[in-house]
Amino acid sequence: MINKISLFVRKMNSYLRALVKLFRATLHLMAQRYRSASLRFKFAFLVVILLTSTSFILCILTVQIMNNYVLNEIIKRGESVGKSIAASAGYSLLSRDRLGLDNLVFKAKTSNSDMPYVAIVDPDMKTVVHSKTLMIGETIPVAQGRLHRKADDGTTVIELPNPSGIVFEISCPIVFMKKTLGNVIIGMNKSVLLEAQQKVRDRIVIAFGIIVVLGIFASSLLASFLIKPIKELSVGVDQLKNGTVKKPLRIYSQDELGELTRNFNEMSALIAEQKGRINKYAYDLEEAYVSIVKVVAAAIDARDSYTHGHSARVAQLSHVIGKQAGLSKSELEELEVACLFHDVGKIKTPDSILLKPGRLSPAEYKDMMNHVEDGASILSRAPSLVKYIPSTRHHHEWYNGKGYPDGLAGDNIPLFAAIISIADAFDAMTSDRPYRKALSEEEALHEIERMSGIQFRPDFVAIFLKLTKESRAKDVPLCVEKAA
Ligand SMILES: [Fe+2]
Repeated sequence: MINKISLFVRKMNSYLRALVKLFRATLHLMAQRYRSASLRFKFAFLVVILLTSTSFILCILTVQIMNNYVLNEIIKRGESVGKSIAASAGYSLLSRDRLGLDNLVFKAKTSNSDMPYVAIVDPDMKTVVHSKTLMIGETIPVAQGRLHRKADDGTTVIELPNPSGIVFEISCPIVFMKKTLGNVIIGMNKSVLLEAQQKVRDRIVIAFGIIVVLGIFASSLLASFLIKPIKELSVGVDQLKNGTVKKPLRIYSQDELGELTRNFNEMSALIAEQKGRINKYAYDLEEAYVSIVKVVAAAIDARDSYTHGHSARVAQLSHVIGKQAGLSKSELEELEVACLFHDVGKIKTPDSILLKPGRLSPAEYKDMMNHVEDGASILSRAPSLVKYIPSTRHHHEWYNGKGYPDGLAGDNIPLFAAIISIADAFDAMTSDRPYRKALSEEEALHEIERMSGIQFRPDFVAIFLKLTKESRAKDVPLCVEKAA
């Protein structure tokens, strides 16, 4: 037996632990969900919980107050009826007027539906008159219950333990000529109380429902009112983070949230102003860098008296080729600037190579070839110059893929680089070099035509030959710089 009890206790213990674990896990899950819920939900949830609990407590208090009130009313009415019968019953008892006594009891019983019995007893508790005629002559036992009240005139109210039936028994002494002749005994049941309770409960349920619905609605409205500025602030912070702030946030109220929004707007404006200043500094810095690179490009041309003005002439020739090829105005402008930068890498080429009055050795030629990559590296330092890297890096590529630095071929060679390649070669060939005299235009054009499809892009060669032919027919120089 002891073993069975011990086993049962152990099982119950394990079940209890499992239940506690489940309860904790559920609480943890709810807490997690609550933490990740929106602010609007949290606010509405708290308000609804607060409203519901407050309403619930108020309902309980109301029912309690109402119960006490109704009970008091029941007692008062019972006492009143009892005293009224007692006042009239004294003479009838003395004169043994049974009819009069019956009449009193009958009237009281019929006019009060919540009185299950009304009786008149003698001092020995023997029934003289009773609403239930079978009880006449019987001795009524003293009511067993809690003494609710005892008045100075001897009226007692006993609260009976049975809550579903009769709740009170009221006993009023019948005094005549200062002599107690008996008592009026009245039982009171809960019908009035239950009826009143039911009515109040119905009303409370309706009121409770209305309060909860209104509470949810009001809390939702209040949540919107409070959360709207917070949401806007959140959007504002995102915009500030992404640099897309367009206008100050709207200030909805003059409270702490309004103050917060105002401060945010001021902070946002300050950041925008500082950002603008930084952007301007960056722009100025880049402009300065671009200017330096332009100066460097010009200086390279100036280093060698034979190539003086080379970049400017390449830009002019490239412009006419590009225009004939159908480039837009902005593309042509970009092409001209690209021409100015195309040999900027030569800043790193030693004078001993760049100005050598003779043919370059293979090693020197290799050093010279590095100028395209050096140029790309210089241009990569400024974001606005990055777009000129392809034309700078690839203007020595060959159409057949035998050029440098990457051996690009055909249409893989960037457009500007393919144009600059022709203009660059033409100007180089028609310029004097320390180790040779300049070729004539006819010789240079012939060389370019010969290298079409080998070194140069054929369609651009065709354009260039056509343009030079037209300019010579009109006796207008294709390159003003050269002519000058
Ligand atoms: Fe070059």
